[in-house]
Amino acid sequence: MNTLIVYMTQHGTTRKVVDRLVNGIGTGTTHAVDLEKNESPEFSDYDSVIIGGSIHIGQIQPRIKRFCEQHKDALLEKKLGLFICFMNQELGKQEFDNAYPEELRKHAKAHGLFGGELLIEKMNFIEKFMVRMIAKESKSKSQLNYEAIDEFITVMR
Ligand SMILES: Cc1cc2nc3c(=O)[nH]c(=O)nc-3n(C[C@H](O)[C@H](O)[C@H](O)COP(=O)(O)O)c2cc1C
Repeated sequence: MNTLIVYMTQHGTTRKVVDRLVNGIGTGTTHAVDLEKNESPEFSDYDSVIIGGSIHIGQIQPRIKRFCEQHKDALLEKKLGLFICFMNQELGKQEFDNAYPEELRKHAKAHGLFGGELLIEKMNFIEKFMVRMIAKESKSKSQLNYEAIDEFITVMR
């Protein structure tokens, strides 16, 4: 079973999750592609595709949305896993539903709502300001749900 992971990250948390997925899936070959560096990875040779991104101001990265829309039919032929990194526990489910098209959500074998991290030292001035105003946070904080990541791995392995 070969797996392709397509992802985007702002400050590295989604990349951290992807590293855990790559190590955890273990069977067959697992490749990870950052859409920032390669906007249209070839995935016809893969049996499974995992797509993941992070939520900023309520939205996943637009390139993740575009990738899902452009390749919807081909993705419906794959074993599919979808995940988000996010911090707002109350809105997580809504943010996930808004991030991925309904057809893909229904088809996906695994949904991952993995929580996230606020890494103040990696934020620019505007990001720090927004996080202070919206989330009322001025310190770095980790809320990654490793149990949920490992359950996702079990399904996608
Ligand atoms: C400027 C900013 C805006 C954010 N907005 C949201 C949001 O609207 N909802 C949410 O759940 N998390 C929000 N987050 C939290 C991120 O989703 C979280 O930090 C995530 O771990 C980022 O992952 P990444 O480093 O892979 O991009 C925001 C974070 C920042 C820095």
